[in-house]
Amino acid sequence: MSVSFPPGFLWGTATAAYQIEGAVREGGRTPSIWDTFSHTPGKVENGDTGDVAVDHFHRRADDVRLMSGLGVNAYRFSVSWPRVQPTGRGPAVQRGLDFYRALVDELLDHGITPVLTLYHWDLPQELETAGGWPERDTAYRFADYARIVAEALGDRVDRWTTLNEPWCSAFLGYASGVHAPGRTDPVAALRAAHHLNLGHGLAAQALRTALPARGQVSVSINPSAVRARTDTEADLDARRRIDALANRVFTDPMLHGAYPADLLSDTEHLTDWSFVHGDDPAVIRHPLDSLGINYYAPSVVSAATDSDLPPERNDGHDGTRSPWPGADGVAFHQAPGDVTDMGWPVDPTGLYDLLMRYTREAPGLPLVITENGAAYPDKPGYDGTVHDPERIRYLHGHLSAVHRAMADGADVRGYFLWSLLDNFEWAYGYGKRFGAVYVDYDTQARVPKSSARWYAELARTGVLPDC
Ligand code: FCB
Repeated sequence: MSVSFPPGFLWGTATAAYQIEGAVREGGRTPSIWDTFSHTPGKVENGDTGDVAVDHFHRRADDVRLMSGLGVNAYRFSVSWPRVQPTGRGPAVQRGLDFYRALVDELLDHGITPVLTLYHWDLPQELETAGGWPERDTAYRFADYARIVAEALGDRVDRWTTLNEPWCSAFLGYASGVHAPGRTDPVAALRAAHHLNLGHGLAAQALRTALPARGQVSVSINPSAVRARTDTEADLDARRRIDALANRVFTDPMLHGAYPADLLSDTEHLTDWSFVHGDDPAVIRHPLDSLGINYYAPSVVSAATDSDLPPERNDGHDGTRSPWPGADGVAFHQAPGDVTDMGWPVDPTGLYDLLMRYTREAPGLPLVITENGAAYPDKPGYDGTVHDPERIRYLHGHLSAVHRAMADGADVRGYFLWSLLDNFEWAYGYGKRFGAVYVDYDTQARVPKSSARWYAELARTGVLPDC
């Protein structure tokens, strides 16, 4: 049976600055932590970097036309902090702001709603050199930068997102070290999580002050749909611990104004959390206009037994250190079923569960799926076309789950396919293709895959057909 989404639903695609822009030395841009990290041997597959990426900085207008051809009505992109405020302090660089102003104007000319993310992981390197997210000052620097961008673009951008996936910034960046800046210090990761939260709250305040009344403020998290392998007490406790470190460390202060007591006691052998100052939780709990949810796959955990992987490998990632401070006795397991090219299980019920969880936890707060999608090893056929039926199946399954959640009461306002284009997939380099549009990295030619056509039809009609 086909199902319909309501009129006004946002059908978008998503990207991030470092993954697509290239032009890393142009217009006064200074290096971000991802420039430094990707240029460090051994950190990114194949030695790939974002130096050129998909050259979106120079192909911006063509890429907006491409999007318009796909019929999407929204586009989620991120602003590169070191492009608009080199080194992360002081005045903005006009050329950097001009790039985003031109992008936004072209989107608006094509009837595409811009959805702007301020921070998708590209911290100016100078701020990392000064201590990075584990230092409190970074949160204040982030709020300054938010004000600069809001003052420049607030007249034409209504939808603002502070952070993308603070979990990845804090725990992959500072604990497992598989993301920039590549540190492996569990206490630094907990400090980073708090200062990302604080930066979110301060930036949200700065946005409210700088934006016109119609401006909307959000944050995009990547909550984990975490399941216990069995319902033994030990496995349920493993789930509780990972839920605290994956989800509640962000959503409890953001939605409820306090850190979870169990998180503080689970990590008390590492830190006393004295880096949380008295008013911080109140600052972090800034009323939001929507909550962005990025979802790819669920996680399955248990209490570790002797036959499980050693704790340092117990992270569900390729890193050598765990991204989970204080969760040494927890083991991760592959969920059953098909996997994507990332090795991530395909399981839309995780998305359904998360939408229902936040519907219960934050009644009245609209939800937006700000990322969902899958990597497959797409290749052009003999005639140059790219067929990706697995991606269509993945999207269909997840959109069916979204529809089911909406029928069960979730107030979901939009869906953003990750990603518009194949691009630089962080530590995996260019080896993993998430795009609805194929990119030939030698020529930068763009070829819409069959999923792009399928998605265009969905965006046009709002009707999800039978698969
Ligand atoms: C998310 C990131 C996004 C992209 C997808 C595959 O965690 O936000 O940039 O890499 O994963």
